Amino acid sequence: MVHIPVLLAEGELTAPAEALRASPIMTHLSPRGGESVIDTTLGLGGHAEAFLTLTAPDGVLIGLDADVENLDRASKKLSIFGERFRGVHANFRALADLSLPLSDILFADLGLSSPHLDEAERGFTFREDAPLDMRYDRSTGRTAATFLARASEEEILKALREFGELQGSARIAHILCTRAHRTNDPLETTGQLRQCIEEVFGFRAPRILPQVFQALRIAVNDELQSLQMFLGATALQLKPGGRLGIISYHSLEDRMVKQAFRAWSTPQRDAVTGAESVEAPFRLLTSRAVQPSDAEVERNPRARSARFRAVQRSS
Ligand SMILES: C[S@@+](CC[C@H](N)C(=O)[O-])C[C@H]1O[C@@H](n2cnc3c(N)ncnc32)[C@H](O)[C@@H]1O
Repeated sequence: MVHIPVLLAEGELTAPAEALRASPIMTHLSPRGGESVIDTTLGLGGHAEAFLTLTAPDGVLIGLDADVENLDRASKKLSIFGERFRGVHANFRALADLSLPLSDILFADLGLSSPHLDEAERGFTFREDAPLDMRYDRSTGRTAATFLARASEEEILKALREFGELQGSARIAHILCTRAHRTNDPLETTGQLRQCIEEVFGFRAPRILPQVFQALRIAVNDELQSLQMFLGATALQLKPGGRLGIISYHSLEDRMVKQAFRAWSTPQRDAVTGAESVEAPFRLLTSRAVQPSDAEVERNPRARSARFRAVQRSS
C-alpha cells in the first residue's frame, strides 16, 4: 500500500512547497529556511521530506526511528538531501540521553506505519498468519507471544482494559492467559490468537480483534511510558521559540499530550492577587486538536483517528 503522510497537504507526497506550507502540520509548526528539525518517528520519511523541503537551502533534520528497517527505507529516500539529513536508530523515550543539538522543531507522528500492517511477518495484523511479534524494534525487548506467555492474568487484563478499552476484558484476559500458558501448545502466531478469540466470541470477534491487537501492541512497545518519557525531555531539546508537534491516534495518547501541553502553557498565578507570577514555559499553537478533513480520511482511512497538537517554547 502507498504510504501517505497524515495532515500534510492533503496527502500529496510530491506537493509543491506552497501546498506543503499550507498543510495543517506546517501551518502550525511553520518551518523556515535554515531551521533544524528532529523528527522522532521518521517512519518512511514523508513528514521529514516535507520539513527538509521547507527548511531549504540549509536546514537540517535528524530522524529517529526505533525500527531499523523503516530507518533504512527513509534514509535511502532522504539521501537526496545529502548532509542535511541524518538518521539515528533510537527510541524517542531515550531522547534526553542522545545528546542531540537543540532544535527549532520537534515532531512525533506516533504509532505504527504502513509496512507494519502490510508486512504480515511483523505480527501486527490479524488478517494473515505470522509470528506474534509486534515490536517496532526487533533488536530488543519481548515479542507479543512472550508477553502473553509470561504475563499474569492481571497484567493481560490491565493491557486490554487500559490500552484496548475493551468491554468484557476480564473474560478475554482469562481466555488469553489460559491459552498462552499452555506449555504444550503456546500461543505463538497471529492466526492462533485470532482463532482463540473467534472460537469464544464467534460473530463478535471482528469487533474485538482490532482492540486486542491494539492493546497488545501498546503493551509490547510500552508506548504510553515512552510517550511520557519523551514529553518529559522535549523542553530541554527545543531552542527558545522552538515548536513541538505531535500526532496521536489513540485517545489515551491524545489525552496525555493535551494535558501536558495545557499544563506547560498555563502561567503560575499569585495565590492572593491572582496576577500572573511566573510566565508559562510554552504557548499553545493549537487551541484544540487538529483532525484530518473528510477528504483526507476518504483518501487515507488510516488518518481517521489522527489528532495533532502543537506548542511553542517561550523565547
Ligand atoms: C506513523 S509512523 C511515522 C510516519 C512518518 N511520519 C512518515 O511520514 O513516514 C511511526 C513511526 O514511528 C516509529 N516509532 C514508534 N514508536 C517509536 C518510539 N518510541 N521511538 C522511535 N520510533 C518509534 C515506528 O517504527 C514508525 O516507523
